[in-house]
Formats: sequence, C-alpha cells, structure tokens
Amino acid sequence: MDSRTGGYDQVDSWNEVLLIYRSALKEINTKLEILNDEFQHVHRYNPIEHIKSRIKTSESIVKKLKKKGYESTIENMVEYVDDIAGIRIICSFTSDIYHIAEMLANQNDIKVLEIKDYIKNPKASGYKSYHMLVTVPIFLSDKRIEAKVEIQIRTVAMDFWASLEHKIHYKFEGNAPSHIQEELVDCAHMVSDLDTKMQSLNEEVQSLIDEG
Ligand code: GTP
Ligand code: MG
Repeated sequence: MDSRTGGYDQVDSWNEVLLIYRSALKEINTKLEILNDEFQHVHRYNPIEHIKSRIKTSESIVKKLKKKGYESTIENMVEYVDDIAGIRIICSFTSDIYHIAEMLANQNDIKVLEIKDYIKNPKASGYKSYHMLVTVPIFLSDKRIEAKVEIQIRTVAMDFWASLEHKIHYKFEGNAPSHIQEELVDCAHMVSDLDTKMQSLNEEVQSLIDEG
C-alpha cells in the first residue's frame, strides 16, 4: 500500500472519497473531545476553546490542483491536496497548542506527515499558527484507509488576527496597500505580546490555585 495515498487506488468514486474524509474529521474530533475531557478532569480546565472543521469544496480542490499543474483526477486530489479535510483547533494559551499537538502525535494510530510551526517561525504576513498534517486510519467494511487531515492549532488571539487578515487578503486579492500590511504585522506582534502576557498571568493564577 502506498504510504501517501494509503490504499485509495481501491476507492472508485469521489463520493466514497468524501465519505472517508468526513469519517476522518469525525475520528479526529472524537480524539480531541476525549483529550479535552481528560484535561478537564486532570487539570481542571479545558485547553480547547472550540473546534471548526470543514471539507474543502470541490471547486477549491480543482482550483488548487490547477495551480499546482495537475489534472483533476481523484488520484491527484488525494495525493496532492493535503487539506481536503481540515480541522482548526482554537486554544486559550500557546502552551495548550503544543500540549494538544503532542498528545495527538503520541496516539499510535495517528501518523504525523508534516509539521509547520508558524508560531516559532511566523510568516512574513505575521501569520502564526501550528500546522500538522496527519493521517488517521478509517476502517470500512473491507479495508483500512489512512486519511489525511490538516490540523491548524492557534490561540483565540491568533485566530482573531488570521480572520481579519484573511478578510483583507481576500478583499484586495492579495495586494493590500503596504500601510495595511504593515499594520497587520504590527497587530501580529501585539497578538504575540498579548498571548505571552495572558499565559504568564494564567500560570501565576494557576499556581496560586494549586497552592490552595
Ligand atoms: P497551501 O496549502 O497550498 O495553501 O500552501 P502552503 O502549504 O504553503 O500553506 P500552509 O500549509 O502553510 O498554509 C495553509 C493554510 O494556512 C491556508 O489555507 C490558511 O488557512 C492558513 N494560512 C497560511 N498562511 C496564512 C496567512 O498568511 N494568513 C492567513 N489568514 N491564513 C494563512
Ligand atoms: Mg498546505
């Protein structure tokens, strides 16, 4: 079985492919729910604020393949479009991001294909987020398929920034006036400062609570 396509050669219809990706989102969502419940049980707080998941529209998939210079075939979609199934996890604190990423990566049915740490290495735009490309096994009646899921993990503040930046990027079709781009980079620095301060404040309060 090809490790990247994970047995998709046996899948003969796009609807079946979609069913697999939907199942993959369910699997990861359940894992996250369990981790969040356990975390609440042990540490008395929820690291996950909320989770959003989506299946990429077929129009966007075709657009991405075209951009990469591939024909629109099911094989190419599965092989070259890594974010057909996408999950965004929004946390309170930066430390929670690494915690969740580590807990997911440690599950032995999850295989981490790629990590992009835009928190340690932010994009030129100012974008910060932790990206993981993983596979999760999906068990159908007669086969096991490793389905790819792109996971983005970020704080509430990073998400706030990314939403506005996305809106601006979209509005100006990627060519926002330079003063706006500069202001966004400024805001990204403020977001980082805020995240750092909120985390240390939380740690201080948490240690007071733990002391009783
Ligand atoms: P694609 O996957 O083809 O988009 O390119 P890539 O692999 O270089 O991108 P990457 O995997 O690093 O990021 C993919 C996703 O991260 C995008 O679809 C966005 O959701 C998010 N993202 C990346 N960069 C930015 C950014 O500068 N601003 C915002 N708002 N989101 C971003
Ligand atoms: Mg990508």
